[in-house]
Amino acid sequence: MTGRFACVAGTGSALGSRVVSNNELARDLDTSDEWIRSRTGIVERRFAEPDETASSLAASAASRALDAAGMDPAVIDLTIVATISGDQPLPSTASFVQQRLGISGGAFDLAAACAGFIYGVDVGAAQISSGSADTVLVVGTEVLSRFLDFSDRTTCVLFGDGAGAVVLTAGHEPGVIGSVLENDGTHAGLLRIPAGGSREPASAETVGRLEHTIRMTSGSEVFRRAVEAMSDSAASLLEKSGMAADDVTLLVPHQANARIIHAVAQRLSFPEDRVFVDLEHVGNTSAASVPVAIDRAWRAGRLSPGDTVLTVAFGAGLAWGANLIRWSAPREPK
Ligand code: ACO
Repeated sequence: MTGRFACVAGTGSALGSRVVSNNELARDLDTSDEWIRSRTGIVERRFAEPDETASSLAASAASRALDAAGMDPAVIDLTIVATISGDQPLPSTASFVQQRLGISGGAFDLAAACAGFIYGVDVGAAQISSGSADTVLVVGTEVLSRFLDFSDRTTCVLFGDGAGAVVLTAGHEPGVIGSVLENDGTHAGLLRIPAGGSREPASAETVGRLEHTIRMTSGSEVFRRAVEAMSDSAASLLEKSGMAADDVTLLVPHQANARIIHAVAQRLSFPEDRVFVDLEHVGNTSAASVPVAIDRAWRAGRLSPGDTVLTVAFGAGLAWGANLIRWSAPREPK
């Protein structure tokens, strides 16, 4: 294969500073550590402190990614921030990330919920391979703790706050081998934040009814659709890339629920030792989930240059997708 490809130069991540255990949530909610642990695999999650925001976590993760790549922020010519819990409706959270790090060039937010980072990597890679950009920062960041109804035990126990970042840079070998992006809008109502947009602007009434928080119509339906969509998109990406599960060094799935991950791995015939599960102390960080997991896998020594990584995610939209990446960041993060 010849041409111009997007390669991973470095990754970084940052989690909210406050550790929130299942037991802490169970103090005010009809739930238990045992229920959350056995149904999701989550033991604790990290929430942002009041002075932390989607852009501050994103900037911390991006700084770490740039450090790991040995690069200066000035080299970034496009910043893509995947988030559904940005600092403000206007301007983009990507603008605040630019401001915090002194980055110039293009910058925009991308909303594909938990699949946002997968979409961001595909868009960033296309910008590089087309010659429109040389070095792209792709960040997934969420502070969903500010969009949770802490009286709804079916949603508030699932999520955590964090950010993960990848620096993509032009190279002669792939890099980002390929992606699959999917969305099924017929199920847009399954996972939503009802108010705060143009359909139902924020008002004292909407806030009083907690309609600015995440609503999930059926957890078990989301579960079933997540397993099906993640395994189908991963399988179709492998097929279109002429690869099989055996060619993949590490499957890094969206960290929503350990049972979803195990079911996906089983359907794809991935042995457990080639599947990265990292939600025990992190929870579901939505768009940040995959890049946080990639960074933590790399820093734990699970990824080396030449390895093949398959990422896959699913979330509100319903949006889902997968990226296949030949790892090129150095063995040891700088
Ligand atoms: N503590 C105790 N009981 C609970 C809790 C809780 N935190 N949450 C729900 N329950 C109860 C339900 O009310 C229900 O009670 P009932 O039988 O009396 O009605 C019972 O537990 C069983 O509920 P189910 O929904 O059938 O439980 P399930 O085994 O499916 O687990 C869960 C629920 C964890 C939400 C699971 O369906 C799931 O993870 N789904 C995916 C949801 C998700 O990840 N959403 C995030 C965004 S999308 C994404 O990231 C993939």
